[in-house]
Parts: sequence; C-alpha cells; structure tokens
Amino acid sequence: MPLDEHLSSGAYRIRAAGPLEGVIRVPGDKSISHRAVMLGALADGTTSILGFLEGQDCIATLNAFHQMGIASEKKDRHLIIHGRGLHGLKPPADVIDMGNSGTGTRLLLGILAGQPFSAVLTGDASLRSRPMDRVTQPLRKMGARFTPLQESADLPLKIQGGRLHGIQYQTPVASAQTKSALLLAGLLADGTTEITEPALSRDHTERMLKTFGVTMECDDLKCTIQSGQTLTPREIVIPGDFSSAAFFIVAAAVIPGSDIIIREVGINPTRTGLLDVLRSMGANIVKQNRKYFGAEPAADIHVQYAPLHGTKIKGKTVVRMIDEFPILAVAAACASSPTIVEEAQELRVKESDRISVIVEELRKMGAVLHERRDGFEVEGGATLHGAECFSHGDHRIAMSIAVASLAAGGETVIRGTRPIGTSFPAFFELLNTISHGKAQEIQ
Ligand code: S3P
Repeated sequence: MPLDEHLSSGAYRIRAAGPLEGVIRVPGDKSISHRAVMLGALADGTTSILGFLEGQDCIATLNAFHQMGIASEKKDRHLIIHGRGLHGLKPPADVIDMGNSGTGTRLLLGILAGQPFSAVLTGDASLRSRPMDRVTQPLRKMGARFTPLQESADLPLKIQGGRLHGIQYQTPVASAQTKSALLLAGLLADGTTEITEPALSRDHTERMLKTFGVTMECDDLKCTIQSGQTLTPREIVIPGDFSSAAFFIVAAAVIPGSDIIIREVGINPTRTGLLDVLRSMGANIVKQNRKYFGAEPAADIHVQYAPLHGTKIKGKTVVRMIDEFPILAVAAACASSPTIVEEAQELRVKESDRISVIVEELRKMGAVLHERRDGFEVEGGATLHGAECFSHGDHRIAMSIAVASLAAGGETVIRGTRPIGTSFPAFFELLNTISHGKAQEIQ
C-alpha cells in the first residue's frame, strides 16, 4: 500500500465505556529509541537496547542506518546495534525513506551533513509537507550543502555531506529536533558548537550523549560540544513513553470511577508538562516507585478520577508538553470551566496542523472549541457524544479521539487509525484490556 494511502486507512468503532481499571505498561519512549539507534550506530562497538519502540518511526531510523552499513539484530528482548564509529557510515545505495518521522529525519540531517558522501532523504505526504529549514539553515552555516529535489517542499532533499565547522547558534524556536541535529553535527564538525534555545526543549540527546561518554557543557538554555570525541558503546534501557502514557492518564482522569497504574514511564521533566497542567486542573495523579533508566528518570504513574476544571497554558509549559495538546484538549472538553492554550503555534507544523484538526474533530463530538492563531480555547462543560471522526493522518489525533470516545455517550467511528503504528502499535489492544468500552476494527 502506498504510504500516503496508509495515512488515511484503518477504521475503529468505539463504544462509550465505564471506568478504566488495571495496571499497564506502555511501549518504550520514541524520542529515546531514535537516539539510541543513532548513537549506537556512531559508537565504536556494540550497543544493546532494551525497550526499543518497534513503531514505524523508529524502524524507519533503524532502516536508514542499515542502508548506511550498520548491522543490527534482535537477541532476546534486546536490539543490538553494531556501531562503526563516528566516521564509519557507508554511502546509502538508494533514497532513504523516513516515512512519517520528523525526529528521525531532522536528527539524521545533522549526521548526514558531516559525512563524506551524499544521500537523499524523503518521507510520506505528511513529512514532505513539514519544514526542514529550521535544521538546514543552521547546518548550512556550519558548511553543509542541501538541495531540495522539488520546488514546493523541503523533502525530498539531497544532502551533500562534507566538512563542517562549529558555530554559535540561537534557535528561534525551542525545538529538541533542531538542537539535537546541531549537537550531532557538532560532534562531526571542526571546533566548538554552541547552541542556545529560547526555552529548554526535551534533553534526551544531551543525556544520552553523556551516557556514551561524550563531554559537553549544558547550562540552562546553552549547550556546548567539542568535536574530536568518540562514543563508547553502552547498554541502554528505555522507559515507557510519557507521550503514549498521556492517553491513558487523561482517559483515567476524565472517566468517573477510573483507577489505573502505568508502570515505569519516563518522567524527564522536559516531557511532563501535562502532569503539572492536569494537576492544576484538579486531577489526582501520583508518581510512585521512582527510579532511573540510565540517565532518564522514570516512575509508576497512578491516576484516579477526579473532576477537572479549566486552566490557562502558555510559555515554557507549552514546550514541556508539546506532543500532548490533542489529548489535553480532550481533558479540557471534559472539564467544568474554560481552558485557554496560547503561544503554541508550533502545533501547526506537527504530523498535522494540530490546532485546526483537534478543534474540527472534537467539535463533531459536541465539544465547544475556538481556534486561535497560536492555540485554542475549549469552553468545557460539554456532554460529548459519539461521531464519525478522522485522524488527518496523525497518530496522536487518532488516539486522542479514541479517548474522547470512551468519555462520550454512544458510538464513535475513527477513520485513518493506521498512523498509530508510528508510535504505539498495540494501542487499541491495550485500551481494550483496561476499558469496559470496546474498540473494534471495522472495514
Ligand atoms: C521530538 C521533539 C519534538 C516533538 C517530537 C519529538 C524529539 O519536536 O514534538 O514528537 O524527539 O526530539 P520539536 O523538536 O520540533 O519540538
């Protein structure tokens, strides 16, 4: 099936549910899985990864490295990456197709920019419509050469790798993908690369680089990295993805009588803005059994239903929950008073335009939302009802609508659920294990 058709296929029917109950685990963190493959490939020797997310996005990254001569294998529950060192990648024989993965693509641009060969990156219709210039612009300043192969889009893109030099760069938007691409390019460049961001974005790359033995200085919003370092292979253990847990956290927070525990979820503070926001709305959420998975903090998350009221979200909190706005909109629709989201215009360049799409889809279910240029407002207090909804090719929209269906009266049909496979392949199966409502695949 062509990828673009894939985005709109797969339909589920969901009936409204009673409370959610039980103890679950969510799959490994997507952001950390991408980085584990990339740093493992660039390390001198064998890296073993436990908890790798076998979603299409991370598989696209793994395949990209296979195309560049990196071998991998599965041993028991571990993914083994046979790294070839910082300068050991081989020229890919073919175009590299990154599917739907913005993270894989943008981080890979930083690595490819510093290689002694050329490569072509492309992706599905959604990815081809997303901006790459936030990464290619600063990489060009480092000496990288890029040629878009179509006039109207940033992808497909030819990368003519070569010698890079370090720069000092202030990112205009807080983006972990941009920061990470520049850090990876900085490892390959001559001299020092210094990156400053307007707000702290997720710091998984910094944490994992340090785990692989790279020295770098990170001080609040500024990171400095020197070239000429090697990466020492490691055993990486990946916690559950907070962004996947978020769907179950909100489901339990809004469905009366719910009581669930999600085991071993990553709680890196650059990711958990949603927890702070839900608590400020009255949610009953407790972190238990805190531990570390390498450099990443994790905990069991215990959620019990409590009535929610509205809130206002803007500024640094937006960055700390950038992937959670579709599901936050569901929580806000179930809250008793209005919620306002501001300074979140980044949502317009995600897997879909998440501002207009979540407003459009939740309205079908009876929620009252207003679109803003930089966010949205949700009036709250709505009684949601079943409807026929569409994912717009976006995994997080599909999963958010699924949660809204559980909180709604009647039956909802969600079309275009296939992209859920990019981040959470067994989402519906897991939902059915703890929900009294039933999600059923239909034609
Ligand atoms: C990611 C960073 C975020 C996030 C994306 C994953 C990462 O994107 O939305 O899902 O793994 O670095 P931006 O860097 O564009 O904010």
